[in-house]
Amino acid sequence: MINNSFWKTRAENYNKTSWVKDDHLLNAYLSLIPKNNIYRNILEVGIGTGAVANKVVDMIGPMIGLDKSKEMMSKIDHDGITKVVGDAHDLPFDDNHFDLIYMRNVIHYLENPAIVFAEILRCLKNESIYLFSQVIPFSDEISDEYDELIGRDIHYPNHGEIKDFFSDYIILDEVEYVLEAQSIMNWLNNTCQDEQKKQKIINQHRNTSNTYKNMVNYKEENDDILVDIKHLFILSHK
Ligand SMILES: C[S@@+](CC[C@H](N)C(=O)[O-])C[C@H]1O[C@@H](n2cnc3c(N)ncnc32)[C@H](O)[C@@H]1O
Repeated sequence: MINNSFWKTRAENYNKTSWVKDDHLLNAYLSLIPKNNIYRNILEVGIGTGAVANKVVDMIGPMIGLDKSKEMMSKIDHDGITKVVGDAHDLPFDDNHFDLIYMRNVIHYLENPAIVFAEILRCLKNESIYLFSQVIPFSDEISDEYDELIGRDIHYPNHGEIKDFFSDYIILDEVEYVLEAQSIMNWLNNTCQDEQKKQKIINQHRNTSNTYKNMVNYKEENDDILVDIKHLFILSHK
């Protein structure tokens, strides 16, 4: 169950989860932003601890970050970021305001992603950029097994489902980026306090299907499990 106290606890260790500040991943994602545009008004939806935003400010300039968790945003320490507490389903911004909006790894926490996509579209200037990123199951076929393994009672939209949310956008580019050999223990130690639940998730990983294991290059090493993790980037405009 994901509520405000989930984010309050998670804020403390969030930046220690290996993918969050992975430089290769961040650089690959942000390299999709077109170079020749002028970005005066920039928004990150679900900014969290500012792991992406710190780089965006240094690369492009000042921006606004919105998140519903003030605890996550309390970890942001950058003069160029204006923090706004708010809900992505009801963005507190004017129509046609932003030159660039981006959102990373938020969609699986949203009650209604279609409303959020419509809100982002409303707040973008015509032909301005929306850059999306999301961790996804390795293939749409293993979607249910993936949700089960994460153990959070939430659904992680897969590649096909995500494409449907873009029906009112023009897609310019699409990249599947694989982070290799990611530690399940690192992820669990920084996201889960409940030892019993941790053990259950480890056992579930050990017992996954061979199809799943082959797809993600499953390896057991020094009391840890290593798997490849896929992120989807979509560059689009209004
Ligand atoms: C996994 S974190 C991602 C943070 C950041 N985008 C990053 O990539 O490091 C998800 C963030 O989405 C925020 N969030 C979840 N639902 C939201 C909503 N309805 N409105 C605004 N923020 C939301 C959470 O509070 C959390 O900070």
